[in-house]
Amino acid sequence: MENELINIKNNAVSLILDAKDPDELEHIKLQFLGKSGQLTLVIKRLPKINPEKRREVGILANEVKESIESAIIEQEVRIKNQELGKRIKKIDVTDPGIRPPLGHLHLITQAIWEITSIFEKIGFGRVRYPEVEWDWYPFGALNFSENHPARDDWETFFIDAPPHPKYGPMLLTPHTSNGQIREMEKGKLPIKMLNIARCYRRQSDVSHTPMFHQFEGLAVNTSLSISNLKGVLEYFVKTYFGEERKSRIRPYHFEFTEPSFEVDVTCGVCLGRGCKLCKEGWLELGGAGMVHPQVLRNCKIDPEKHNGFAFGWGVERVLMMKEGIEIDDLRLLYSNKLEFLEQF
Ligand code: DAH
Repeated sequence: MENELINIKNNAVSLILDAKDPDELEHIKLQFLGKSGQLTLVIKRLPKINPEKRREVGILANEVKESIESAIIEQEVRIKNQELGKRIKKIDVTDPGIRPPLGHLHLITQAIWEITSIFEKIGFGRVRYPEVEWDWYPFGALNFSENHPARDDWETFFIDAPPHPKYGPMLLTPHTSNGQIREMEKGKLPIKMLNIARCYRRQSDVSHTPMFHQFEGLAVNTSLSISNLKGVLEYFVKTYFGEERKSRIRPYHFEFTEPSFEVDVTCGVCLGRGCKLCKEGWLELGGAGMVHPQVLRNCKIDPEKHNGFAFGWGVERVLMMKEGIEIDDLRLLYSNKLEFLEQF
């Protein structure tokens, strides 16, 4: 029986070494190790032989099995490597190199950089504040009433954490206006800040994503006026959208500014004449206003001595309004679809 086993091993290994493809190997495997393979049949006879020899023969049979199995694995690797070798061309060192694909910054990051550099030129420095906040910063200190609908958890994402004894529940910033409070409470005047951050609201459709970006400007000094605010808006509109675009302010209401305005900019397609896209020539940009005296007081700034103006607009929104960029579904921006992102 020992001889029989040795013969099986030699036969199997030489067949394996000659095998040219995975199918042939599979066939050989069955021939020796399958249910009625040659080795399997010998092993099945083991219980019938003399118990003294049985152990020794058993060990040999196992060794044979292992040798066949590892020969099969090694041959598999050899076949694969040969296939690969056939596919790899000889290297010609004089061939021109292949340029590796280069990525670029996301469309929104590009917009954030552009907006930052526009405001830096007139002295607004970029700041960053927490995007996980206490209620006080985006709501309480900004004069939002206790039962204001924005606080409703259908609008704002609340964090499941115990509330702060002084600052209230924990939440994700629904706008960048928390940055006004964070900046003012530092007590360093005058202020010219630009807070650009992610904002979060419970919304998702073609023109809304649950996460989006805003940029928020705040200036606090001794005698600022609406014309200072208007000057900054006009400067931004002309630099970002183009010299031919105009801006206007309309009375509006926000809790934390008095007076408050909505800022419009002339439509990039008809330049204010009125067209299918804008109807009356103007597109809405976002909010602005003179900082409410109570908001100053909330940050320990004396409204008799200081005043300020603020504005807060959506990065995605101004980007869409820039001529030439039309995105049917805003959610595409954050879908990681390369066919879309590579265009910008
Ligand atoms: N935070 C407001 C919003 O998300 C926008 C806004 C309005 C910001 C008026 C301001 C402002 O700074 O003065 O709708």
